[in-house]
Amino acid sequence: MAELVIKNSHLVLPEGVVDAGLVIGAGKIKDIVKDSALPEADTVVDAGGKYILPGMIDVHVHMREPGAVSKEGWVTGSKAAVAGGVTTLFDMPNTQPPTTSIEELARKRENVKGKSLVDYGFHFAATPDNQEELKKLFGGIASVKFYTCSTVGSLLIDNDAVIFEDFRILGEKQLISTVHAENQVMIDYWMNALKESGEDVSPLTYAKARGNICASESLNSLIYLSKSAGNKLHVAHISTLEEVNLVRKFKDPQLTAEVSPHHLFLSLDDVGRLGSYSRVNPPLRSEVDNGALWEGLFDGTIDMIASDHAPHLRESKEGDVFTASAGFPELETTLPLLLNETHKSRLTLELIAKITAENPARVFRVKNKGRIEKGFDADLVIVDLDREKVVREEELFTKCGWSPYAGRTLKGWPVKTFVGGNLVFDEGIIYEEKKGREVNYY
Ligand code: NCD
Ligand code: ZN
Ligand code: ZN
Repeated sequence: MAELVIKNSHLVLPEGVVDAGLVIGAGKIKDIVKDSALPEADTVVDAGGKYILPGMIDVHVHMREPGAVSKEGWVTGSKAAVAGGVTTLFDMPNTQPPTTSIEELARKRENVKGKSLVDYGFHFAATPDNQEELKKLFGGIASVKFYTCSTVGSLLIDNDAVIFEDFRILGEKQLISTVHAENQVMIDYWMNALKESGEDVSPLTYAKARGNICASESLNSLIYLSKSAGNKLHVAHISTLEEVNLVRKFKDPQLTAEVSPHHLFLSLDDVGRLGSYSRVNPPLRSEVDNGALWEGLFDGTIDMIASDHAPHLRESKEGDVFTASAGFPELETTLPLLLNETHKSRLTLELIAKITAENPARVFRVKNKGRIEKGFDADLVIVDLDREKVVREEELFTKCGWSPYAGRTLKGWPVKTFVGGNLVFDEGIIYEEKKGREVNYY
């Protein structure tokens, strides 16, 4: 007898949507068969004719642990993940202390045990002086992150010679270098000019001053360094038309990119409404940039969507735009925002599966994940495309308790999330008994 079967569903497979059922055992998909051929099972879940997607693999999440568990942490963050249909996430290294040594990575690994409801991996970080630590890395991480600007939890690395040497070291190890590309010298120059102007700076003036050129100039330089060093470069939160054009021009298997939901679904037009809450790095951009990012997703220039879930409490988002913390909570709304687009014919479910699961697994070489396929992990999300619901801050699981999308009506929501065959989210209820594991890389 099988452990679990799911019947009466439309499965979103890479080759298209099929009406079939799933046989699940030992955390894996054992078979995909017509409902009439499903075996007896201990548990039978009736999907009620809904669609099943592979669980989202979110490669860009700030879990804030250690150092800022007042903002999030693995317990609340992974609840937010399963509520949003995310079954695997990669944690960013700008924690306190940051993940810049083998020792700190080991501490992070130990700390997460027994806390996360989802499977996970870790990004490491490069600093101006941790080359010896990079030399000790041998797999087991998602990537090494380079921050060319001092964003939250400053890990600024702005010496191109060091970046080039690091890229060479990581290239030889076939490890990915992920970049937050924004030129700090340019940012400082225009921010100082704003401050010295003595004017009362609005959030919109602020966002525009940290302009497209700060990001595209930095990315241009990083792509040049990477092509010269021969390493794999992954561009985090690509946000401008100019960056899309750059990546399209130099696109090959060694150059990949992700876009964040806020650069697709929010723009400078939202800054007035959001006030100092609109602050995010890179900043919100124009509708022309939004359009270029969508085009980049459609033609494969951009490989995936990653949430950049960067929770901050209300108290640190309020007040002066220069001092407000940068970042948005995103784990619970990314998939609903995408599903909502299927009703406007902008996205198909097949493309959603590709940019949320299949491509992240391929780029980051995650074993046995990213597709609904025999032998793969049973990481699944049942979605109700007809469910229309307003984003309400009081219903969110993230500890920060607010959302830049609050009040938006979205049609298409996750209703059940399975991690390794275990039902962990069911219609708003979270089951916490089963915990996630660290992923394997091939
Ligand atoms: C991130 C954070 O809060 O950690 N903030 C952000 O605005 N995206 C840091 C980052 O990704 O740059
Ligand atoms: Zn960043
Ligand atoms: Zn980030």
